[in-house]
Parts: sequence; structure tokens; C-alpha cells
Amino acid sequence: MTFADGGHHGLPRLLAGLEPGGGAVSLAAHTRVHGPLPQVPAHQLIEEVERSGLRGRGGADFPTARKLRAVAGRRRVGPVIVNGSETEPASAKDRLLLARLPHLVLDGAVLAAAAIGSRRVIVKVGENAEDAVAALEAAIAARDQLAIEVVTGPEGYVAGEESAVVHYLNGGPELPTFIPPRPFERGYRGRPTLIQNPETLAQLALVARFGSRWYRELGTVADPGSALVTITGAVRAPGVYELAFGTAMSDLLEAAGGPSEPLQALLVGGYFGTWMEASQATSLRLAREDLRSVGCTLGSGVLIALGESSCGLHESARVITYLAGQSAGQCGPCVYGLRAIADAVGALADGVAHPSERDRVLRWTSEVRGRGACHHPDGAVRFVESALAVFDDDIDGHRRGRCNAIPAGLPLGGPAVAGGRLR
Ligand SMILES: Cc1cc2nc3c(=O)[nH]c(=O)nc-3n(C[C@H](O)[C@H](O)[C@H](O)COP(=O)(O)O)c2cc1C
Ligand code: SF4
Repeated sequence: MTFADGGHHGLPRLLAGLEPGGGAVSLAAHTRVHGPLPQVPAHQLIEEVERSGLRGRGGADFPTARKLRAVAGRRRVGPVIVNGSETEPASAKDRLLLARLPHLVLDGAVLAAAAIGSRRVIVKVGENAEDAVAALEAAIAARDQLAIEVVTGPEGYVAGEESAVVHYLNGGPELPTFIPPRPFERGYRGRPTLIQNPETLAQLALVARFGSRWYRELGTVADPGSALVTITGAVRAPGVYELAFGTAMSDLLEAAGGPSEPLQALLVGGYFGTWMEASQATSLRLAREDLRSVGCTLGSGVLIALGESSCGLHESARVITYLAGQSAGQCGPCVYGLRAIADAVGALADGVAHPSERDRVLRWTSEVRGRGACHHPDGAVRFVESALAVFDDDIDGHRRGRCNAIPAGLPLGGPAVAGGRLR
């Protein structure tokens, strides 16, 4: 099979055709920019996705072709579920795709469905995402295709975890279920189910059109292609930006207008992510190997810049208190462990705990890790451990009552950078 030659060389790719401040891109405009939906035989699409090196953009970074293959080989396959929950409070990329570029995501979902032998697509979005629901419903009405439906659901942090999404769509509460079986084994109504993040499917839609060679024109050998990154915090133009893998972190900040004040730290990967000192973070590239070398992942593609005028300890205490409150209340170590950790980090930030409380927190984090039905506690303790490492020197100062910081107001719930610039 030969692939179309109309792919954009360079950036933007996913965000091509998007007018800043405009509405959802119509089917006609979408087709003008990217060309018609290609007909790719199932096995060829999966092979091409494998060659592209595409990995999931919902946070787990799992190779997409392996997921497609795991479902494609099974009988009585269920629907493709587009996980548009975007429960990471600082992330805005999935909402942007669904509300402004719905046809690109639907193309990916329809192609993935054909590749695994499914005839149905369910797009699950948070119940506050009215713009995404409206754009998706209009896009579905404009297409003449297999059954596609939009389902809204609760907004809590763990509601976006894949087994929670499946559980909810099966009529249960939005709680993670004990895994295995994973959705690809037994998911929607007990059937093997493919569940993917909207950006993963949007990328797949372009791979299906223009092929893996084109996809690999950007990025590095190990991390090909581009990624949507939500850049927020102490930058002049917070927003969602499409950047090539391999781009220097300092260039990511420049893409968002540059720092609005001297930076002390960057939070890479959102609230399941890792704090890094600004000097260390800006010496890295947006690449898995660079991030892994410092124990970090890109997660769902969030980068938060913390200015020197803010307090990393207080901000971290707010976030871990939020994460503890988002526990789905099913597993003891998650419920009680995160609560105790959040209280202790709060006390360190308020200067009312002895600095040795820090060691107690680190003991608790190691006891909580890996002890939940889902990865919520693992992500939360990774965040806390990095906060205590990067803001360690502040603990003593807080004990002596020295903190004149201005709240940075890291977002807790709701879309983070509504109205942010697009590129
Ligand atoms: C607590 C928790 C919350 C999650 N929230 C989301 C979410 O909002 N959106 C999403 O796509 N993936 C989320 N994930 C990851 C999903 O479980 C799953 O890996 C992803 O939807 C698969 O799609 P992908 O392979 O295309 O990334 C979450 C995971 C955890 C542990
Ligand atoms: S680990 Fe926490 S969030 Fe995950 S299922 Fe258990 S209680 Fe719920």
C-alpha cells in the first residue's frame, strides 16, 4: 500500500487547519487539510502503526500497535472507546482535540475500529465538556459511518482510568476495577475492548494517511513524531502546543512565550509527574530517554513552570491534598496512606511539623506504592517524593516561619488553560 503524499512536512501536524479563536473544524475543512479518510486493510494499518512507533498519549505510554493487536486477534470484539475524560486538571489537549478537531479523532477511532474488527465507537467525555460534546455531535451527524456515540461521565481524577471508564459504561460507578482482566481481555459488556486517548487516535489517523515514514520525519529514532503539550504556570502564553519529540525543554517554554519570571522548578507530566529544578529540567529534551534518565515521564503531556515568587511546598501540599481526595475509596493504602501523606506535607509546608516528618512521609510513600487496584497511589507518591527532593531546602525555612510566596494557583479540577493560545 502506498500512502498519500499530502502530509505537512514540519509542524503543525495535528493542529494544522486550526484557527486560533475559531470553532470546530468542519468535515469539509478537515478533508481539505488532511485529505479523505483512507481505506487501509486491517493488518497493514496495524503494521504501519507499529513501524511508526506510536505510543499512547493518555499517560501510560503503551505501544499502540500492541494494543490494537491484542484486541484484533479476539472474537466478539467490543467498541473502540475514546477516553476523552482528561481528568488531569492541568491538561487541555484532549478537550482541544475533541472540541476543535473532532473529525481527526473520529477518523482515528473509525480506522482503529476497522483494524480490530469492531463496528462501534463510544467517545467518553467529562460531563462539563459541553463544547466537546457539541462539536462531536455535529461531527457525527456530518459523517455517514458506523455507530458512533458520545457518553458523558463524572469528572473525578480516577474516573479517566481505563477500567473506571469501562466500569462506568457498563452501568457501574466510575471506579477502577481490580485488574486483570484488562479491557482488551474483558471490557465493555465483557467483550475485548480497545480504549485509547484522543491524541493517540488523532496521531493514528495521520499515520494511516501519510504512513510511518512521514510520521518519523519529526522526532528522534526512539521517540518519533510530535506531541501535544499543555504548557502552563509561569509562562507568558499558557496553552496547548504541538512540538516535535527531541525539542529542548527550554524551547518548549519559549513556545509558550517564555517564562514570565525567573523559574525555580518545572513539573513534568502533570500531577502524576515529577518536579525538577528548573536548571536541570531545561537541560533535557522532550524525549523518553532524557526524562527517564531523571526518573520522569511525560505522562499526559503537561508541563507546569513554577516561578521563584511561588512556594513549591505549598503548591505541592495543595496538589497532594487534592489527589488524596480523589482516591476512589476502595483500597486502604490509597485512602488512608494518601490522606496521611497529604496532612504531613501540609504540616511541613505550614512550618508546624518537625523536619523529620519528611522521613516519615518517605516511609509512607514506599508503603503505599503498588498497593492500589489502580495506579492512582503510585502517581501520587511519585509526585510527593519529587516535591520533597526538589523543595527540601524550603522545609527548614518554613519551620522558621519564612515563606512570603505568592500562590501560583496550580489548577485543581476543571479545564486549566481555557482560551490559551494554540500552535
Ligand atoms: C488515575 C488515572 C487516571 C487516568 N485518566 C486518564 C484520562 O483522563 N484520559 C486518558 O486518556 N487516560 C487516562 N488514564 C490512562 C488510562 O488508564 C489508559 O492508559 C489510557 O486511556 C489508554 O489510552 P492510550 O494508550 O491511548 O494512552 C488514567 C490512568 C490513571 C491511573
Ligand atoms: S488505588 Fe485508590 S484510586 Fe485506585 S481503585 Fe484503589 S482506592 Fe481507588
